Amino acid sequence: METLHDSPIKCSDIFKALPDQQKHIRVVMMIGVAGVGKTFSVQKFCLDWAEGLENQDVDLVIPLSFRELNLIKDEQYSLLELLRVFHPTLQEVTAEQLAGSKVLFIFDGLDESRLSLDFNKSKVVSDVTQKSSVNVLLTNLIQGKLLPSALVWITSRPAAANQIPPACVDRVTEVRGFTDDQKEEYFRKRVSDEELSSRIISHIKTSRSLHIMCLIPVFCWITATVLDHMLTTDKRGELPKTLTDMYSHFLLVQTKRKKLKYAEGHETSPQELTEADREVLLKLGRLAFEQLEKGNIMLYQEDLERCGLDVTEASLYSGVCSEIFKKESVIFQKTVYCFVHLSVQEFLAAVYLFHCYTNRNTQVLKDFLGKDFNPKSFLKKISMYFGKKDNYPSLDVFLKTAMEKSLRSKNGHLDLFVRFLHGLSLESNQRLLGGLLGQTDNSPEITQRAINNLKKMKKTKISPDRSINIFHCLTEINDHSVHQEIQEFLKSKNRSEKRLSEIHCSALAYMLQMSEEVLDELDLSQYNTSDEGKLRLIPAVRNCRKARLWSCGLSEISCSSLASALKSNPSHLRELDLGGNENLKDSGVKQLCAGLESPNCRLETLRSVHLFYSCTV
Ligand SMILES: *[C@@H]1O[C@H](CO)[C@@H](O)[C@H](O)[C@H]1NC(C)=O
Ligand SMILES: *[C@@H]1O[C@H](CO)[C@@H](O)[C@H](O)[C@H]1NC(C)=O
Ligand SMILES: *[C@@H]1O[C@H](CO)[C@@H](O)[C@H](O)[C@H]1NC(C)=O
Repeated sequence: METLHDSPIKCSDIFKALPDQQKHIRVVMMIGVAGVGKTFSVQKFCLDWAEGLENQDVDLVIPLSFRELNLIKDEQYSLLELLRVFHPTLQEVTAEQLAGSKVLFIFDGLDESRLSLDFNKSKVVSDVTQKSSVNVLLTNLIQGKLLPSALVWITSRPAAANQIPPACVDRVTEVRGFTDDQKEEYFRKRVSDEELSSRIISHIKTSRSLHIMCLIPVFCWITATVLDHMLTTDKRGELPKTLTDMYSHFLLVQTKRKKLKYAEGHETSPQELTEADREVLLKLGRLAFEQLEKGNIMLYQEDLERCGLDVTEASLYSGVCSEIFKKESVIFQKTVYCFVHLSVQEFLAAVYLFHCYTNRNTQVLKDFLGKDFNPKSFLKKISMYFGKKDNYPSLDVFLKTAMEKSLRSKNGHLDLFVRFLHGLSLESNQRLLGGLLGQTDNSPEITQRAINNLKKMKKTKISPDRSINIFHCLTEINDHSVHQEIQEFLKSKNRSEKRLSEIHCSALAYMLQMSEEVLDELDLSQYNTSDEGKLRLIPAVRNCRKARLWSCGLSEISCSSLASALKSNPSHLRELDLGGNENLKDSGVKQLCAGLESPNCRLETLRSVHLFYSCTV
C-alpha cells in the first residue's frame, strides 16, 4: 500500500517504474469498460515497438487473445508450442533463445476467457517445453514460475479482473476513454469539414446521455457515422437525441451505405429496410439476445447456425451486417464472430425482444421474463399476461416486467438493453425502423402509463446503483420532467420543503455522482423523502467528502453500493457516519469491510454505534 499512485501514464510506459519507485513491474493489469480502447492500446503498443519507437529493451512481443486461447482450452501444449501455433513466424525460436530474451506476453480480453484459471491448485510448470493445459501454462507464467524473466500484460473489463489474484499483479492501469476535450478532437479529426464537425459537436452537447456516452471511442465512431451522413445527405430529418434514436439511425445508415455501394447509383429507396434486410437483422437480433442473456460476446459458428444464420451467406459479409458484425479471427479452422460493440449487441437484442412482443411470440417472452424468479404469484401473473390471446399484456405491462427483470440482475447486464426497449416503444423509433419491430398497440396514453410505471417503481431489494437505470429509461422514452424537477430542486433555497419521490432520488443521485464538483457533505436526514428514497441517494456518496447516513435503514444491498463508493478511484470520502442503522447484519458489514480494505479507500473517520467487528484496514 505504500506504493499507491493514481497518476496518468502513457501506454508505452506501463512497464516502467515511476521515478520514486524501485519495484520491478512484471505483471500489468489493464482494465476498462467495453469499447474504451484496451485492444487498441495493445495494437498501438505493438506497432510502436515493431517500428522501433518504444520499449526497445523488449526483444519479443507476443500478443495472444483469450478468445483464441479459448479454442484450445482442452488441449495440451508446451509454452514453446503455443507460441508456434499462434505465431507461425516463431517456428525457429528455441527454448534457449526464449529463456535468454526479454519477452512480453500480452493476454487480451480476460473477460472473454472461457478458461478456468486456478491459482491455488495449479500444478507447477517451469520448463517451456513441458506440455500442460493452457490454463496451467497461464497461471504459471503470471505467477512467474514459468519463464520468470517474461513480462505479462493482461487486459480485462473491470468485472472480470478479479480472476487474477491482486498479489500477482504489480500494476493496475485503467483506460478511461475520452475526456471532453478529446471527444471534440475526435470529431474534428474524423470529420474533415470544419463546419460539419462543429455542428456535430454542438449537437452532442445538447444531449446529456449522448455526451456522456461519447467517452467511449466506439460510440463516437457510431455518432460520427450517423451525424455525418444525416447532415450531408438528408438534411431535413431531426437529429437523434437519445441512444435509441442514435442506434436506430445507425442501422439505417449502414443499410443505406451498403445499397449505395452495391446498387452503383441505381435509384433505391434507401430509408426502407427490404424484406431480406429485415430477415437477417432479426436473426442477428435473436443471436444477440440469446447470447446477451448468457453473458456471451464471443460467438462461434454453432451459435450463428442455431439462429438460422448461414455463415457462408453473402449477406453476412457484404450486406448490412458487415459493419455491425465481424468475423474476428480464424484459427484452427474455427471462426470467431462478435458484434462491433457490446452496445450494438444490446440494441439488436432489444429489437428482437420487441419484435417477439409485437408478434406474440409468447414462448420467448415467458422464458425470458419468468426465468430466475420463482414466486408463484409472478409465474401466475406471467401466464395470465401471456396465456390467452385476448389477455395479451399491453406495452406498458411488457416494459414494466422487463424492467423488473433487469433490476434483479446483479451485474446490470440488462441495463442498456432495457433502456433500448423503452426507447423502441416510442412511435418515432418504430416509424424509423419500419416493419422491423412489427405493429404495436402504441398510443400516447400507453407511453404515459409506461412513464408513470417508471416513476412509481419501488423495489426494496435492488441495488441503489441499479435503480439509477430507471431514470435513464425515462430519458430514452423522452420524459424529461424528473430531470427538470431536480434541476429546480437544486436551485431552490430551502431543499427540505420539497418532498422527493424515489425516482427523484435516483435522478439526484445520478446528477450528484456525475457532477464535476465534489460535494462537501451528503446528509440524508436533510432530504424530505421516504426510506427507500434515502437509500437511492447512496450512489452520490461516491462524489462527496462527508456522508451522514444516520438511521436510514441501511441493508446489505445498500452496503454493496457504499462499498463500491469506497473502492472507487479516485475515492473522495473522508468521513462516514452510519449511526442508527441496526439492520446491517453480518453480510452488510462484510461488504463494508471489503470497501474499507480497498487500497483506494481514503476514509479517515467512521462513526457507527452498532458495528463491532474488526477488519484489516
Ligand atoms: C485461494 O487461496 C486464497 C488464500 O490462500 C483464498 O482466499 C481463495 O479463496 C482460494 N481460491 C480458491 C478458488 O480456492
Ligand atoms: C425549510 O422548510 C421547512 C419546512 O417548511 C422548515 O421546517 C425549515 O425550518 C426551513 N429551513 C430553513 C433553513 O428555512
Ligand atoms: C416535506 O415536504 C412536504 C411537501 O412539500 C411538506 O409539506 C413538509 O413540510 C416537508 N417536510 C419537512 C420536514 O420539511
